[in-house]
Amino acid sequence: MNEPETIKTIFTQIAPRYDAANHIISFGLDFLWRKKLVQLANPLPGEKILDVCCGSGDIAIEFAKKCDGLEITGSDFSEGMIRLAKEKSLKKGMNINWVQADCLKTGFDDFSFDIVSCAFGIRNIPEYEKSVQEIYRILKVGGKAAILEFSVPENAILRPFFWMYLHYLLPIIGGIITGYYRHYKYLTSSIKRWHDTANLVDILKSAGFDNVAVESFNFGLVKAYIAYKGSKK
Ligand SMILES: C[S@@+](CC[C@H](N)C(=O)[O-])C[C@H]1O[C@@H](n2cnc3c(N)ncnc32)[C@H](O)[C@@H]1O
Repeated sequence: MNEPETIKTIFTQIAPRYDAANHIISFGLDFLWRKKLVQLANPLPGEKILDVCCGSGDIAIEFAKKCDGLEITGSDFSEGMIRLAKEKSLKKGMNINWVQADCLKTGFDDFSFDIVSCAFGIRNIPEYEKSVQEIYRILKVGGKAAILEFSVPENAILRPFFWMYLHYLLPIIGGIITGYYRHYKYLTSSIKRWHDTANLVDILKSAGFDNVAVESFNFGLVKAYIAYKGSKK
């Protein structure tokens, strides 16, 4: 498993071309997945939102588009990603706080946020459980975690094509766009490791979350998880 410093370097190096690579690799579906997650999170005016592992900021920006009057923060441990996110939100005239922080130790107080989101981030953290425990800690009672992660298509006919795409084509396409073939090999291995070892519903429940709902997109390629800390508001 890659060390956190290696992972930070990977994301800092691909940051300048990260958005372009995402859109091309996902055939533009990544826009829809993020939009859907924010819809499911259903933010209300006045709420405090944190997007951890925010990358180039698209989830936080999607929250700002979805609902006025939110207090939104995006955090990531890669300085390059935070810089990019800040530039994007400033260009759009959005008031979002950007913080460079490790999602295992965010530095926020207990019970700080109404919603904590994380899109395609948890898979990159060697200790998945600890990141979920940190999200639980900083959520208010009645608050919710909104998590998006890759999965493996349930359809047995599609599955071999998915693995072929993941193992062979994705690193080539990502490599051509960003100049870092090996970093996209890492993406492949992180998705495989996640599929082989993690059950996010169990991890969420062990951390204390109730009412865990899961929604699959595009034949199970991506899953959104909405989990409540305590009973729903
Ligand atoms: C695949 S990207 C996802 C970015 C963004 N959420 C999105 O939807 O495009 C994963 C992000 O997680 C960040 N990350 C990985 N491990 C982290 C950690 N321990 N603490 C904070 N950020 C982390 C990386 O820097 C990277 O920006």
